[in-house]
Amino acid sequence: MSEPTAPRPVLTIENLSVVYEADIPVTAVKGASFQLAAGEILGLAGESGCGKTTLAYAVNRLHKPPARIASGSITFHDAGGRDIDLLALESEQLRAFRWAQLSMVFQGAMNALNPVITIRAQLEDVLKTHRPGMSKTQRRERAADVLRRVGVDPDRLRSYPHELSGGMRQRVMIAMAMILEPQVMIMDEPTTALDVVVQRDILREIVRLRDELGFAVIFITHDLPLLLEISDRIAVMLRGEIVELGDATTMYREPKHEYTKKLLGSFPSLSGSRGAFIRTGIDEGEAS
Ligand SMILES: Nc1ncnc2c1ncn2[C@@H]1O[C@H](COP(=O)(O)OP(=O)(O)O)[C@@H](O)[C@H]1O
Ligand SMILES: [Mg+2]
Repeated sequence: MSEPTAPRPVLTIENLSVVYEADIPVTAVKGASFQLAAGEILGLAGESGCGKTTLAYAVNRLHKPPARIASGSITFHDAGGRDIDLLALESEQLRAFRWAQLSMVFQGAMNALNPVITIRAQLEDVLKTHRPGMSKTQRRERAADVLRRVGVDPDRLRSYPHELSGGMRQRVMIAMAMILEPQVMIMDEPTTALDVVVQRDILREIVRLRDELGFAVIFITHDLPLLLEISDRIAVMLRGEIVELGDATTMYREPKHEYTKKLLGSFPSLSGSRGAFIRTGIDEGEAS
């Protein structure tokens, strides 16, 4: 937490509302507004059903009927200083934009890998689609490199998903989300299904990669204490609304909203004190 948050915004969400059109419409996201800075890890917390996944899908424009964006704007600020109105993109432009600029690791993503295709082919497919100019050799090198970065031995390129552990499959999904070097990655409960040891290894990896590569992350989980470990700022969601948004250290010391206080008290933290295992001494202090 010694570094100041980078000032350049990469994503601006304003007054975003998402409705599920049913007999009785459900407004799952209500007027959400926030800005994501380049290189920042923004945590999005809130208990199950509060609208986190709905928000994540809408930001990526991956929401499907009956979900509908009822109001608001989503603006991406690219590295060249251009503002991109995501809600105005045509489907073709959107396809080119996703993965390349803004990628997403879904809840349970590790089960989304195609079971009959090798890890190499799945990684290289993204490159074939988005980087048609790349040679076969370049694709192979990039796939191996990105796998290595997320802590998976490139030997695994030959493997099929079922030959990998859940943790490794999730790392592969993170590799896939990173392969085009997007500026923003949205991660929705990426480690929730994993055991605590694997979970903390992957979280540490995500923070390290962010430090190294400078992408921004919206990290979503129902576990607020866990978010306090890795986030620069945190948004707390309650019944579709962001009720508190602020610096993670400040929120840990002085939560303002009653609901934030409740969330802080309701989970056993992975380590006890904020930043004990991730922020300080990435290679040391592995309390056992
Ligand atoms: N397909 C759907 N149709 C109607 N309501 C939905 C649908 N999917 C989610 N919801 C509702 O939207 C709200 C938010 O869900 P979700 O975004 O999945 O929350 P979270 O990710 O925080 O657990 C919930 O009340 C849920 O019941
Ligand atoms: Mg969810």
